[in-house]
This record gives sequence, C-alpha cells and structure tokens, in this order.
Amino acid sequence: MKSFPPSFVWGAATAAHQVEGNNVNSDLWVLEHCRPTLFQEPSLDACDHYHRFQDDIRLLAGLGLNCYRFSIEWARIEPEPGHFSTSALDHYRRVLAACHENGVTPMVTFYHFSSPRWFAAMGGWEHKQAGDLFVRYCERAGRALGDLISFASTYNEPNLPMLFRWIAHIDVPFTTVLLMGRKAQQAVGSKKFGCFFLGDAYVLQERMIAAHHNAVSALKSGPGSYPIGVNLAIQDEQPCGPNSQRDKKCAECYDGWLAAAARSDFLGIQAYTRCRVGKKGDLGPEPGIPLTQMGYEFWPEALEACIRYAAARVAKPIYITESGVATDDDAQRVEYIRRSLEGVLDCLDQGIDVRGYIHWSLLDNFEWIYGYRPKFGLIAVDRATQQRTIKPSARYLGELARQNQMVDLAAIR
Ligand code: BGC
Repeated sequence: MKSFPPSFVWGAATAAHQVEGNNVNSDLWVLEHCRPTLFQEPSLDACDHYHRFQDDIRLLAGLGLNCYRFSIEWARIEPEPGHFSTSALDHYRRVLAACHENGVTPMVTFYHFSSPRWFAAMGGWEHKQAGDLFVRYCERAGRALGDLISFASTYNEPNLPMLFRWIAHIDVPFTTVLLMGRKAQQAVGSKKFGCFFLGDAYVLQERMIAAHHNAVSALKSGPGSYPIGVNLAIQDEQPCGPNSQRDKKCAECYDGWLAAAARSDFLGIQAYTRCRVGKKGDLGPEPGIPLTQMGYEFWPEALEACIRYAAARVAKPIYITESGVATDDDAQRVEYIRRSLEGVLDCLDQGIDVRGYIHWSLLDNFEWIYGYRPKFGLIAVDRATQQRTIKPSARYLGELARQNQMVDLAAIR
C-alpha cells in the first residue's frame, strides 16, 4: 500500500456558524430569520458544538485523526464594535486547549463566511473601513489565543463571491435576495446590510486581499509562532468546446488570491468538484454523471487536478483544508475519500509539497442556505437529541490516518 509522508496532517473541519448553535449576533442569523429568506431553515442550536466541543474533539482524536480545523466566531468575540468579549475568547482558549490535551493540532480560521451583525449594518466588506476592522479583530483574537494556535488561516474561501458569478448550479431567486436584504436592513435599523455571500465580488476581493496581508502582520506580531495561510475554493475547471471562457474564469476567480497565498506561509485548497466551462461560462453537470446532494458532479478526481493547478502557481506548502461530499450514502463518501487521496498520493509522488488532508466535515451540520439536508459529516448528528453516531467513512479515514497509508476498507470492518 502506498504511504504518506511521515508528518502528514490528518484532520476534519467545521466552521463556527455551522456547528456551534445560536450564533445570534451574526449577520447570517439575521438573514435566516427574515421573511422571505433564502435559507431553507435557520441554524438554531446547530450541533450545539459550543457546549459539546470537548466530546467532539475527543471523538475526532479517537478516530485516529491528528488535526482539528475550526473557525472562531467574530460575532461572538466582538459583539459590539470595539468591545472584545473575554468570555468568548476564553471559550476558544478552552477549545484550543482541548485539542492539545487530545494530541490534536488546532488549525484556526479567523473568518468563515459569517460577520457580526453590526459589521453587516455598516455595509460589510464594502465599507471602506472593513479591512481595518477585520485586522483589529484578528489582532485582538491573536493576542488572546496565539500561544495555543498551531496553524491559522485568515479566511475561508474568500474567492467564493467571485466564483458565484460563474457557478451554474446556483439558482438564487433575485426578488427573494432583494426582499431579504430589505428585511435585514430593517432588522438591524440601517440602510445597509452587507453580507459576504452577497457582496460585490470585485470590491470584496480588493479589500479582503489587502486586509489578509495586514492581518498576517498583526498576527505575527502577537504571541505564538505559527504558519498563516488562506484557504481557497478551487474547482477543477475544464474547458469545454470552442472559445471556452475557462482561462478568463480562472484569472478572475483564482489569480489574485493565489498571488496572496504565494506571499503567505501556506495555501489551503478546498475542492469538491469539477466544472465544465464553455464559451458562455459554466455549463453545469454533464448528463449521466452522478450528482451529490449539492447538485454538483460526484468527481473525487477534482482534488488532484486542483492541487496540480495551484502548485504550478504557488511555491508554498499545500494543505487540503477541505474536501468532502454531501451524501446520505456513506459508502459513497468512503469511495470519495479513497479516490481523492489516491490523487493526493500521485501529487506527492511527483514531488508536490502536500502536507495534509482535512476532511469536510467532522459533523453533519448546517449547510448554509441549504439547511441541514446535505450530509457532509463523518459523524451523524441527531438534531433532536444531539447524539453523535460515527459513520464507517470516519473509521476509514481514521484508519488511513493511523497507518499513514491507503488501507483496504474490508480490513477495518
Ligand atoms: C465551505 C463550507 C461548506 C462546504 C460544503 C465550503 O465551501 O467552506 O462551509 O459547508 O464547502 O459545501
């Protein structure tokens, strides 16, 4: 069986808003409760991870994984502008400590889509001071937590708004967006409501890249000494037919951020599928290819293609910070993991510096506007009782991690 490099990182990921529950001070909580709303359902208690993190980290370690990627929530840490909550920061110190106590390396994301509602009320990332406010938050959180952090990313998928301009399978009703936005403004008593998902992609990109570099400097001047990168959403972009816009799409969605990653300590790659790009943009799934619960193609080979694409442009260590599949059929998840990791091994064989694989997600959780229906978790969560149930795919990934090599699924049953 082919093996991975000795210090390879094996992990699973979550994001605060998707698992913690009751993120009531965030912009997304506001949007979830507007009528109309784009959200299928509100996040509510989510996985109650805010209170159950000890057990969840213990479960992750028990599987054999050695890294937990999670995000800290700006809306909790800075519930009002300039007021930093010691209680929230202490909470995240306890989460970090729980990782270390369980022999798990913590990888912290400072921003995973959600913002404080006051930030949205100012206009979000489109406000001129947004970058400075984000940097101030990072500086304060880094000062309180840095000594316990092992890896950090400023943002999760900051290139997503740019990708949204292309992605074919997202069909969002324009009037709902408009009315939801108006209701959100009323809810926060402002003429503005700027949320990451709905912002102007060009303004966001410029502002967030500048703030990324400033946040890295701020974090580096605080306690601890840990690599800091940025995690990008990358798809296996395949040209289809004559005059494909593939290169234009890649230039818009990836170039700026890959350049930012090249100036950082590492690049996080988050890959889920491939995309066929024709002369008018994305073509959507190819008929006959199985779809995931998200409506995109089941295409585990995307990971390898994305690693190769990024590695040709960024000469920095690569971590797979997300890879996974939404399915009710856990055997499909096992197959997805196996085929994705075969691709990682091929990249490693050819000397590409991939240092870790972090699966999305540790738990079945709140999949943003799609609610709780898509199942990305290695561990199922009963939403009525909060009971966790380990799926076979979790045991499979854990066994790969323990042996640091590909294993036969049959051997672990
Ligand atoms: C995001 C996660 C999300 C996952 C699955 C990534 O875009 O970082 O928050 O749940 O994909 O859709």
